[in-house]
Amino acid sequence: MAENVILEIDDKKYNLPLIIGTEGEKGINILKLRDQTGCIAYDPGFGNTASCDSKITYINGENGIMRYHGIPIEQLAEGSDFIEVAYLLIWGKIPTAQERRHFSDLLTDNALIHENLKSHFEGFPSSAHPMAMLSAMINALGCYHHDLGKIEGEDELGPEQQLEVLAARLISKIRTIAAFSYKMSRGEPFIYPDPNLRYVSNFLHMMFSLPHKHYEAMPEVAKALDMILMLHADHEQNCSTTTVRMVASAGANLFSSVSAGVCALWGRLHGGANMAVINMLQQIHDGGLNAKKCIELAKDPKSDFRLMGFGHRVYKNHDPRARILKGACERLFTKLDHKDPLLDIALELEDLALNDSYFIERKLYPNVDFYSGMILRSIGIPTNMFTVMFAIGRLPGWIAHWREVHEAENMKIARPRQIYTGNKELHYVPMAQRQGVSPIESK
Ligand code: CMC
Repeated sequence: MAENVILEIDDKKYNLPLIIGTEGEKGINILKLRDQTGCIAYDPGFGNTASCDSKITYINGENGIMRYHGIPIEQLAEGSDFIEVAYLLIWGKIPTAQERRHFSDLLTDNALIHENLKSHFEGFPSSAHPMAMLSAMINALGCYHHDLGKIEGEDELGPEQQLEVLAARLISKIRTIAAFSYKMSRGEPFIYPDPNLRYVSNFLHMMFSLPHKHYEAMPEVAKALDMILMLHADHEQNCSTTTVRMVASAGANLFSSVSAGVCALWGRLHGGANMAVINMLQQIHDGGLNAKKCIELAKDPKSDFRLMGFGHRVYKNHDPRARILKGACERLFTKLDHKDPLLDIALELEDLALNDSYFIERKLYPNVDFYSGMILRSIGIPTNMFTVMFAIGRLPGWIAHWREVHEAENMKIARPRQIYTGNKELHYVPMAQRQGVSPIESK
């Protein structure tokens, strides 16, 4: 394998080094491109640009492979759980029984949010979107817990232990914030975390218990939700993770970096797609659309309608997360004897799309959001909280990437370039010399 590639510009040849990843992925190192050639690389949406090297997640879109620190996602879905996966992502190894216990204890110790923070919720309108509240509250957490090296009263801890405390704080408190924002939107009293419950059951307790009525999650329900979180825990350089890395690259603390990630995730082409899928299925169900029309609209170049929950920038064969979740969804529905007309519509849409040349040629398959919404809906999670569930799941990945940025030897502030396509130099014209009447003056 060659170690360099040759780039030719105006009869001049330049040697650019090749970088090869563990799985044979090849990248052309263009760090010196501008210095050597005067040119920069142009790649809107970064579809062909590796912005970093990373040891966390491997994805092979052609073969539908996804692994966390080398472990296939299918094996983790079978035998692991969200907290173990969180540990794996951040520390690069499966925890020993003792490490796991210690981390679980830290999560329990950090489940409460500062009482003063509760008053922040009262400042939001009851119609506030839970993602807006989540991002604001995570940033507000930063006012109470400082970044690495500055944890109050814990100066004696080394950087690894400090990160463990910080990670546990965020992973534990995010679910409390999420549940409180739901309670706020319903005008119900906040339900405090129960230290005897496991991560997911505790979240469901805070969501659905009432002061006079305790909600106890069925094990199958807790397992299905745990699996959703696990499958969302990292996905290498997606939009929100890249946002977290970009903010972190400026030296920002973990709370603000993650808060920015929540904002990016909210977008409908990213984490917001799980809500959009259910809204689309609901529209079909209510008669505003039908499945065939939906497919036709998605194919129409004049329409900006897209089949939500379909397609992926990286997966061009299948999304392994979607396969696992489809099975989990069917198992859960059977176990609960749950019927949902939206599932029948989803299956019909999937069948139509998978047999349609438009989707086949463009390699558009169901993605993780296509089935996660069906499971969340059956658990009783309201649609506007779906992306919040995605954020709770993605948090360990964001923390792992934040850590990687801070520990990278070649850490650089993210600062892309652009190809300027605006005006050439113009000259400022003082007001007295301007011709015509401006729209403001004419009012
Ligand atoms: N429905 C209809 N056409 C589509 C769809 C879709 N869902 N996705 C892509 N296409 C078409 C697109 O119109 C384009 O066609 P043409 O070549 O004729 O112009 C072609 O496929 C390539 O699309 P693209 O927009 O260049 O692909 P991308 O890699 O930039 O976008 C995507 C990936 C996920 C944003 C896109 O597939 C999409 O908008 N899907 C629907 C939203 C969705 O489900 N998002 C969740 C993604 S998975 C969770 C996550 O990681 O956030």
